[in-house]
Amino acid sequence: MTVEFISAINVNPGNELNGFASTAIDHPYFVKYARALDEGGFDYTLVPYGSGGHDPFTIASAITQHTTHLKPIVALRPNTIYPTVAAKALATLDQLSGGRAVVHFIAGGNDHEQAREGDRFTKDERYARQHEYIEILRRVWTETEAFDHKGEFYSFEDFVSYIRPVNGTIPISVGGSSDEAYRTGGQLGDIFGLWGEPLADTQHQIDRIASEARKAGRTDTPRTWVTFRPIIAPTEELAWEKAHRILEVLKDGSKASTLWNAKKFLNTNTTTGPANVGSQRLLEIASRGDLHDRALWTPTASATGAAGASTALVGTPETVAAAILDYVDLGADLISIRGYDNYNDAIDYGRFLIPLVRQELAHREATGQRGEVVAQPPLEDVLRERAAS
Ligand SMILES: Cc1cc2nc3c(=O)[nH]c(=O)nc-3n(C[C@H](O)[C@H](O)[C@H](O)COP(=O)(O)O)c2cc1C
Repeated sequence: MTVEFISAINVNPGNELNGFASTAIDHPYFVKYARALDEGGFDYTLVPYGSGGHDPFTIASAITQHTTHLKPIVALRPNTIYPTVAAKALATLDQLSGGRAVVHFIAGGNDHEQAREGDRFTKDERYARQHEYIEILRRVWTETEAFDHKGEFYSFEDFVSYIRPVNGTIPISVGGSSDEAYRTGGQLGDIFGLWGEPLADTQHQIDRIASEARKAGRTDTPRTWVTFRPIIAPTEELAWEKAHRILEVLKDGSKASTLWNAKKFLNTNTTTGPANVGSQRLLEIASRGDLHDRALWTPTASATGAAGASTALVGTPETVAAAILDYVDLGADLISIRGYDNYNDAIDYGRFLIPLVRQELAHREATGQRGEVVAQPPLEDVLRERAAS
């Protein structure tokens, strides 16, 4: 089984810890970041969407012009762009990048945030619109003759696009944890995106999505994408010290830079708590306890209202790699790992975490047996050498 790794792009040094005020693109930093992912073993990078943030299509096309294989995952909210226009924009990006475009659908977890750009649909309506939207995208990518479309949310006549995706289609991802999300993603998704939950809860979600796929007559199921915030260090003790330091900053909340203020874009600090089911689930899981399975740590979710990807995996690279392999065993072959110290963590994941996971998978492939996840040489030695040099 091959596992692919996903990060999330940064256009400047801002993150949830450093209170970086500027929202401007720092081009040298952006190029350095994209190249670090491209050369550091990452396969994809999410280009997230928030009502006040940069345009993901523009950022994605720039990523492909500064990298060789990194695939940008464009986060798309259907209320922001007409489906035929999105189909052509994605196919254009795909041609420009030699077939690297991916799209991740955002139904939108919060009415207030959706209304910021004029979307007054209920979440149910947003998922129903998303369903029709995805069907239109696939038809625009494959139809060679002009066609009419008359649907519940969209209608147009005599339309044909001459812009074809490089491989005939473009992978479509759906994210969320509500019944509507499972239904839409189970029926239509090539990929289904989940936030990091304990193994049993993740298995439950994977089973829900698979049952929706079967109900829709599919013989396959979407690939599973699981998202974590790894906190790694040379020893368990150092990793937990680092985790608690990060938690104090997250609790304070004033250090989240404007572009990474997920609470604003996803939950809007309401007293009633998050509207989206994914965040509600994470808070419920956090209320069950702080540490789950091998290394899943949830206080980082409680501290941020579980706004977006907010559960951590804490430990040495070996511990976190073993924890990731537990999710691979469930069938998750797309692993999103995004740190709190974004750039430096991406570098460390490329050096110490991704190779460990791939090394063990190669060992299992070659021997049919499970090995022990051990860094060669151990991170401790590497850092001691680095400190000495
Ligand atoms: C992996 C992943 C990435 C996501 N990225 C974004 C994003 O960039 N912007 C956003 O507004 N919502 C994002 N979401 C939120 C959802 O796509 C979703 O629309 C929302 O949370 C509603 O979910 P629900 O069906 O669980 O209530 C993401 C969700 C997942 C699982």
